[in-house]
Amino acid sequence: MVVSPLNYSGNKAKILKHIIPLFPKDTKIFADIFCGSGIVGLNSSNQKLILNDKEYRILELLNYFKTNKLENILSDVAHLIQVYNLTDSRNKPKGYYKVYANEGLSRYNKVGFFNLRQAYNEQPNNVKLFVLIIYGFNHYLRFNSKNLFNVPVGKMDFTQSLYLKTIEFVKLLQEKDIEFLNLDFRNEKLYQNADFFYFDPPYLITNAPYNVSWSEKDEDDLYEILDFLNEKKLKFALSNVMYSNGKINKRLEKWSKKYQLCEIQRQYTNANYRRKNLSDTLEVLIKNY
Ligand SMILES: C[S@@+](CC[C@H](N)C(=O)[O-])C[C@H]1O[C@@H](n2cnc3c(N)ncnc32)[C@H](O)[C@@H]1O
Repeated sequence: MVVSPLNYSGNKAKILKHIIPLFPKDTKIFADIFCGSGIVGLNSSNQKLILNDKEYRILELLNYFKTNKLENILSDVAHLIQVYNLTDSRNKPKGYYKVYANEGLSRYNKVGFFNLRQAYNEQPNNVKLFVLIIYGFNHYLRFNSKNLFNVPVGKMDFTQSLYLKTIEFVKLLQEKDIEFLNLDFRNEKLYQNADFFYFDPPYLITNAPYNVSWSEKDEDDLYEILDFLNEKKLKFALSNVMYSNGKINKRLEKWSKKYQLCEIQRQYTNANYRRKNLSDTLEVLIKNY
């Protein structure tokens, strides 16, 4: 499985190996309606993909990786690392930077990162955003209500492992035939060409920045679309969380009875594994095939 160099909130990297085998084998076009980092569609066996998300900045970044030569992307990144005087541990001898406990490399990168963040917020472009993600806290992509990138400096830099992840990810994006769309999931254009639809929406009962604006109305609209696809005999799969942190998604529980529910992963907070405890988390995949 190829994972993304971005640590996109809610990304499915940890459960890819469980969900990919559950996808149908005989479809031509895979539509990833809430694609985020894109890793689910990208790791499917489909060559043709539709990657859609409401967040245009992630799509622009994916498109930048897709349409630029790998060596140019890497040299754009190296150029910014140099201009903003950021650490470059991959190209330096071991021990060149002193890595402070709890701080990692942040002491070296604080000023350069701040300057780059300011430059990006004044004049955004994809390579600046990518370097901010590399050097930002936990490789997050996050914006405040004024649309400004607001992640603080992180502890890491463009390590060998992140460098290799980037190469693999860019190569995979470039191998696939992809149409990027930046539409709300209700837009009917999304449902015209594909023959398999994967949905990984914000979750009603867990915390992620984009979950705040996800309402019960959105959830109901989504179920309506899924029922519609089912009536049209089109295959879909929906990722979601049935219960977590003491909350249960009752709407989902009721609606999903019509379809097949696959338990993907349970995270136990209770030592007694056999007792169902709602403070545990249950991730599910609901499918109609
Ligand atoms: C759980 S994340 C998807 C993560 C993705 N599967 C991955 O592995 O990276 C949910 C995504 O839904 C997007 N989103 C939220 N509301 C949306 C809407 N109304 N229409 C389309 N996309 C939306 C968010 O921007 C976010 O990227």
